[in-house]
Amino acid sequence: MTRKKILIDAQTIQRKVTELGRQITGDYQDRSLVLLGVLNGSFIFMADLARAIDLPLEVDFLRVASYGNSTSSSGSIRMTKAPELNLKDRDILLVEDIVDTGTTIAWLRDYIASHEAGSVRICALIDKQERRQTEVEIHYAGFTVEEGFLVGYGLDYAEKHRNLPDICTLTP
Ligand code: IMP
Ligand code: MG
Repeated sequence: MTRKKILIDAQTIQRKVTELGRQITGDYQDRSLVLLGVLNGSFIFMADLARAIDLPLEVDFLRVASYGNSTSSSGSIRMTKAPELNLKDRDILLVEDIVDTGTTIAWLRDYIASHEAGSVRICALIDKQERRQTEVEIHYAGFTVEEGFLVGYGLDYAEKHRNLPDICTLTP
């Protein structure tokens, strides 16, 4: 049995996404913006964030496998779906649901940089700092959370709960 408790409600999420969108709109004037979402967790955040940015932009997705169905990182990363746009000279904004150890997003940042992107920045809805192992600059962070396993608004536990409108903590 698991218990869910609302940590960040849908309205608070929307306010934050609007704020991030404004900030990104200001920073990417006259740039060549590509929002590059990390599947599957970013799909809902990506949809809302893209609509909060008032600029011409393109959207693409990639997917990596690292976590399996448990709540702790396996540490090894493998790309299972590559981006399809040509990233050369583009201003890439990686869109991630949550940064935990930092291993995944640091690996992705380096992958994108090695494909001659014009610039690479990171936007994460949640910056979870307790288990950080790899130092990584998160340029746009929605919420900072110290600990706990979160589900909802795209975040899953064993592929479940992604459709919850709020972000909830999951406790056994
Ligand atoms: P990292 O490489 O440890 O930073 O792991 C990042 C990935 O782990 C994220 O893209 C999520 O898919 C997953 N993850 C980490 N923490 C949570 C959580 O609290 N809930 C759901 N997924 C999580
Ligand atoms: Mg996940």
